[in-house]
Amino acid sequence: MTVPALRPAPRDISSDPFMADVLAGLSGNPKRLLPKYFYDEAGSQLFEEITRLPEYYLTRTELKILRDNAPAIAALIPRDSALVELGAGSATKAKIMLEAAPQISAYVPVDISAEFLGSEAAKLERDIPRVAVYPVATDFTKPFELPAAPRRRPCVGFFPGSTSGNFEPHEASELLRLASGILGHDALFIVGADLAKDASTLHAAYNDAAGVTAKFNLNLLARINRELDADFDLAAFEHHACYNRERGRIEVYLASRKRQKVHVGGKTFDFRAGETIHTENSYKFTVKSFSALARGAGWVPVAVYTDSNEHFAVYVLKQK
Ligand code: TRP
Repeated sequence: MTVPALRPAPRDISSDPFMADVLAGLSGNPKRLLPKYFYDEAGSQLFEEITRLPEYYLTRTELKILRDNAPAIAALIPRDSALVELGAGSATKAKIMLEAAPQISAYVPVDISAEFLGSEAAKLERDIPRVAVYPVATDFTKPFELPAAPRRRPCVGFFPGSTSGNFEPHEASELLRLASGILGHDALFIVGADLAKDASTLHAAYNDAAGVTAKFNLNLLARINRELDADFDLAAFEHHACYNRERGRIEVYLASRKRQKVHVGGKTFDFRAGETIHTENSYKFTVKSFSALARGAGWVPVAVYTDSNEHFAVYVLKQK
């Protein structure tokens, strides 16, 4: 009798983008890792926890903006539309739109985390039976095609959560342009983006007292250990987040607490004491700077909604 293999076969670098991206990112100087890999099952759950933290004003503020303005936004949406959400995570925000706009008959959540996507889609189909759900498990930063049924409908892109701020401005612009092609002619695009504000509010939002953000950041190393046969010592790295005013962004790092070596996929990486891995940027925009970005990518802002503190903004864009 043969003994079944307990370990999956080692990943092939050439065919595994996660392995390839991690090796490339750790080989660079400075070292970096791509934020899209935060969101495995554990990471998605930790991020949900972040959205409920008292310091993390973004989600709660965006939800209020959406709730307060859903009827006005709904009035712009054509009959029999499909709502196409990029980076769906939990469908809480989409639900607000789907409930306020009964003329939306399809929902297409697009997310890199397939497991999360499946369970959320099933829940939504139960809650709003009128809406047909077509989940697409893919990396929305790469070109992809919508399923045939929603593609025939007028499309409304939905990109909440300030995810657009997690890209370099030129990448965010490319992404908005890519979305324009995917959504098709005359599409609308509802996009959330965080507003520039005082450094202390921003600092607290990315350095919560309970340490959930630190755990979320460190989960990226835990995921690399789990999936890529690596040996990061999680206790030997710490979370850092600071506001870079000149660049208008929060920068998130993992800093090595000591000089150490880490092995990933058969390669060895040296860390100096204090050396950082850059894991995320979160750009903060003014209404003016975000509108300019959108225009540069082929969209015209037709409406902008903010909260009374002007902490966050939701833009409704229309194709030029
Ligand atoms: N899109 C979120 C943001 O920019 C992602 C995020 C929140 C995040 N907290 C984080 C990413 C901490 C890395 C680390 O606000």
